[in-house]
Amino acid sequence: MNYHIALIGAGQLGTRHLQGLSRMSASAKVYIVDPNEASLEQAQKGFAEMHSTAGVTATFHKSIAELPKELDLVIIATSSRPRAQITRELLATMAPRYILFEKFLFPEINDYKPINTLLQQRGIKAWVNCARRAQSIYKQLPSMLTSGSPVHFEVNGGNWGLGCNSIHFIDIFSCLVGETAVSIDLSKLDRQLYRSKRDGYIEFGGTLSGSTPNGHSITLTSDMMGNEPPVVRIRQTEQEFTLFESGKLMEHRKSGEPATQTPISFLFQSELTGITADLILQKGECDLTPFDASSKLHMQFLEPAIALYNDLSGEKGTFCPIT
Ligand SMILES: NC(=O)c1ccc[n+]([C@@H]2O[C@H](COP(=O)([O-])OP(=O)(O)OC[C@H]3O[C@@H](n4cnc5c(N)ncnc54)[C@H](O)[C@@H]3O)[C@@H](O)[C@H]2O)c1
Repeated sequence: MNYHIALIGAGQLGTRHLQGLSRMSASAKVYIVDPNEASLEQAQKGFAEMHSTAGVTATFHKSIAELPKELDLVIIATSSRPRAQITRELLATMAPRYILFEKFLFPEINDYKPINTLLQQRGIKAWVNCARRAQSIYKQLPSMLTSGSPVHFEVNGGNWGLGCNSIHFIDIFSCLVGETAVSIDLSKLDRQLYRSKRDGYIEFGGTLSGSTPNGHSITLTSDMMGNEPPVVRIRQTEQEFTLFESGKLMEHRKSGEPATQTPISFLFQSELTGITADLILQKGECDLTPFDASSKLHMQFLEPAIALYNDLSGEKGTFCPIT
C-alpha cells in the first residue's frame, strides 16, 4: 500500500517528523507544505540524510492548495498560532482519514470546541503529539505503580519552557493516574512574562501545581535562573521513581531497600514518527493522546494561563501566545 501523507510545517520539528516518516515500514508519498523557503530547504536536507528502505518519497510545496484531495494522514507541525486556521482550510476541501496535531494545540480557547466538532462531523480520528506516551519507560510505569496509592508527579529544572511544555508533563501525569480532570493552579508562577525561544510567543517560569479528583497531584517547576535539564520524580508513599530523561537513566527507591538504577531508552522524534505513522495507518490506533482527551488537558491549562497572561500584559483576550 502506498500511503499519502501531508506534513504541514517543515520547521525544526517538522523536519524531525519527516525523517521519522522516512523510517516507516510501509511505503508512502509524503507531501511537505511550508510557505517558508528556508524551512522547505532544511526539510529537504534532513530527508536527504535518510535512506528509506520501504520506498518513502517526498515532494515539497508552498501551499495546501497543492495537496492531493485524498490523504491518509496529515501531520500539522506548524507553531500554534496558525494551527486552527490550517485545520479549517484543510477540512474545507479534503477529508484525511487521520490527523496528528503538534502541541501546544491551539492558543485561542474558542478554537477547541469547533475544531473537535468538525473532526467528529467528518469522522476524522486525531491525536496530539504528547510523545512521552510512546516512550517505552512511560508505557511500563503504570504497571510499576502501586494501584490505589496517590501519585505525586514532580518536575524540576531550569528554564525548560513551562508555558509551552507543561502540557507534555500534564499529559503523561494524566496518563499515569488514569484521570483527565486536572485542576491547575498557576498562582505560584513568576509575575513576569518571559521571551520564548520562538518569535511571537511568551514563556512562564516558577511553579505550577495541580490535582485530580482521586487525590493525585502534580508540581512543575521551571527556575528561570537555572539551566538544569528537567528531572521527573514520581512519588508514592512506598516508592519513588526519578527519571533523568536526558541522561537516559531511572532511579527506583522502595522504602527499606537500596535504590536501584536502570538505563532507559528515550527516543528522538525522528525515531518515533515512523512507528506512530505505521501504527495509525495499519491499525487506526497509536500510543498518543486522542484529540478529545488532549483538548480537555490543554484547556484546563490554557484557561488559567490566559487569565495570568491578561493580568501581566494588560490584554483582555481569550488567547495566550504559547506554542
Ligand atoms: N511534541 C514535541 O515534543 C515538540 C517538540 C518541539 C516542538 N514542538 C511543537 O512543534 C511546533 C513547531 O515547532 P518548531 O520548533 O518546528 O517551530 P519552527 O518555527 O521551527 O517551525 C514552524 C514552521 O511552521 C511553518 N508555518 C507557519 N505557518 C504555516 C502555514 N500556514 N502552513 C505551513 N507551514 C507554516 C513555518 O514557516 C515554520 O517553518 C511548536 O508548536 C512546538 O511547540 C513539539
